[in-house]
Amino acid sequence: MENELLMIKEEALAKLDNCSSLKELNDIRILYLGKKGPIQEAMKSMKDMAAEDRKVFGQTSNLVKQELSKAVEDRKEILENQAILDKINEERIDITLPSYKLDQGTLHPLSTIVAEIVELFLGMGYQIAEGPEVETDYFNFELMNLPKGHPARDMQDTFYIDENTLMRTHTSPVQAHAMLEAQGKGPIKVICPGKTYRRDDDDATHSHQFMQCEGLVVDKNITMADLKGTLEVFARKFFGEKREVRLRPSYFPFTEPSVEVDISCHNCGGKGCSMCKHTGWIEILGAGMVNPRVLEMCGFDSEVYQGFAFGIGMERVAMLKYGIDNIRDFYNDDIRFLNQFSRKE
Ligand code: PHE
Repeated sequence: MENELLMIKEEALAKLDNCSSLKELNDIRILYLGKKGPIQEAMKSMKDMAAEDRKVFGQTSNLVKQELSKAVEDRKEILENQAILDKINEERIDITLPSYKLDQGTLHPLSTIVAEIVELFLGMGYQIAEGPEVETDYFNFELMNLPKGHPARDMQDTFYIDENTLMRTHTSPVQAHAMLEAQGKGPIKVICPGKTYRRDDDDATHSHQFMQCEGLVVDKNITMADLKGTLEVFARKFFGEKREVRLRPSYFPFTEPSVEVDISCHNCGGKGCSMCKHTGWIEILGAGMVNPRVLEMCGFDSEVYQGFAFGIGMERVAMLKYGIDNIRDFYNDDIRFLNQFSRKE
């Protein structure tokens, strides 16, 4: 009888050794240690044994039972650990694989220029003024001293929406908005960067949509020297300390006198090169003293107040600063062009 028990034990241990899943393990446990298992059966037959034999047999069968129970527990632990390891292996992430490349966005070069110019004028005490891009004829032209039929209207080929509504051809109408808002009381010191539109055929230097930055100062005792000094600060901060500013007589209906503003060429230092067409000077903007008629139409007493105004062509100064020779590069969204302006961090 005892031998039989020991053989059963060996058989069970061998099965446990080979068992590879928790389900199989449970089957083996029920088969050998369950109520209908051989050990339990053997124990049932003890009641017919002599007292002495029963004691020995009882001990043996208890030991076998304990040994098998422990073997089942041990095996269970091994299988459970194995299951965890298998799961970890299965879910392993290969952190050495290269990741997706995320392209980093960057400011458009024109946005950078706008920010730079705005920053510069804010530093001189200017405020930002805004006006609509869809403008009335009245603000874009009439209040700028360009009545209907005025020949200078032809200088600015206009996208009309209807007879009295148009896409603004310059940022100068913002001057009128700013002055009317101030209700005849100075000082006014504003800049207005914004989009402008003209019915131009697009080429390397013309774009039907472009950007300007208007500047307007209205106060008592404002002279042309204030205008020149202001533009010198702008030119030197923007194009370099050594820049000289030159004013040439010109004509705009909304300024009197009017000037074209040149800076000494930042490429050759004024000696003459292809960028300045060998003149040593580069035209960068139009400006002038606010025409008294405009001051009056916009509610200011021109006997008391004077003003100066200027209009910077944003693409133009950006092209000069970065050495870009085609205005369309700003609007074509060619990533190879734009990438040249990405911050390398
Ligand atoms: N508005 C003018 C233009 O678009 C530029 C300018 C602005 C000239 C302010 C003088 C004063 O050409």
